[in-house]
Amino acid sequence: MDAKRIAAEKATAYIDHEMVVGLGTGSTAYWAIQKIGENVKRGLRIQAVATSIQSENLAKALGIPMLSMSMVDSIDLTIDGADEVDEAWNLIKGGGGALLREKIVASTSKNLFIVVDERKLVKKLGAFPLPVEIVTFAHEITQNKLRALGCIPVLRMKEQHPYLTDNGNYIVDCDFGSIDHPEELHQIINMIPGVVDNGLFIKMAAKVIVGYQDGTVIEM
Ligand code: A5P
Repeated sequence: MDAKRIAAEKATAYIDHEMVVGLGTGSTAYWAIQKIGENVKRGLRIQAVATSIQSENLAKALGIPMLSMSMVDSIDLTIDGADEVDEAWNLIKGGGGALLREKIVASTSKNLFIVVDERKLVKKLGAFPLPVEIVTFAHEITQNKLRALGCIPVLRMKEQHPYLTDNGNYIVDCDFGSIDHPEELHQIINMIPGVVDNGLFIKMAAKVIVGYQDGTVIEM
């Protein structure tokens, strides 16, 4: 079975009746949502909130009862993927463009479980360019300020136009090389006017579940 799938399905075993569950975004979270949908059909009673329109639509199609995020002040468990996980469980997220809603949902969750395949585990973050969500107004200026921090910023494109997030913002993928101090970098980036948030998730994960190509799965 697919390494992402076994990690994602393992995480769903922690979901119990009456929980409010956060649904992540991406190709790993997809498998968690599928499994939750199956379990709901078998009688699991939960309500969920989504981290993207894509995941919301998938969950609704599977019959998972959904809440709007504005109705929720606490989420029991969120299951989400990541682009990189370092040894301290700091993360880079946002490869799928959903980092802002993912961070809002994660910050409202009692537990954030990260599900990844083994290729996402790194010693230091940064081989994956850091996604930064910025407002469209004067985005060139914001990109220049990001460049001044020492990265190579690339405006994410989709079909010859700038990619737009679910929040109507742009994403800049910032190649900083190896990131020595993720916590500081997170704060410095978010001080730039025009930056909405960045894809560094610092000390937010409560558990990391890793799927391996040989079919094994390890919980950390
Ligand atoms: C979505 O914006 C991201 O944060 C995803 O969680 C991350 O990119 C992992 O995606 P995959 O599970 O598709 O690798």
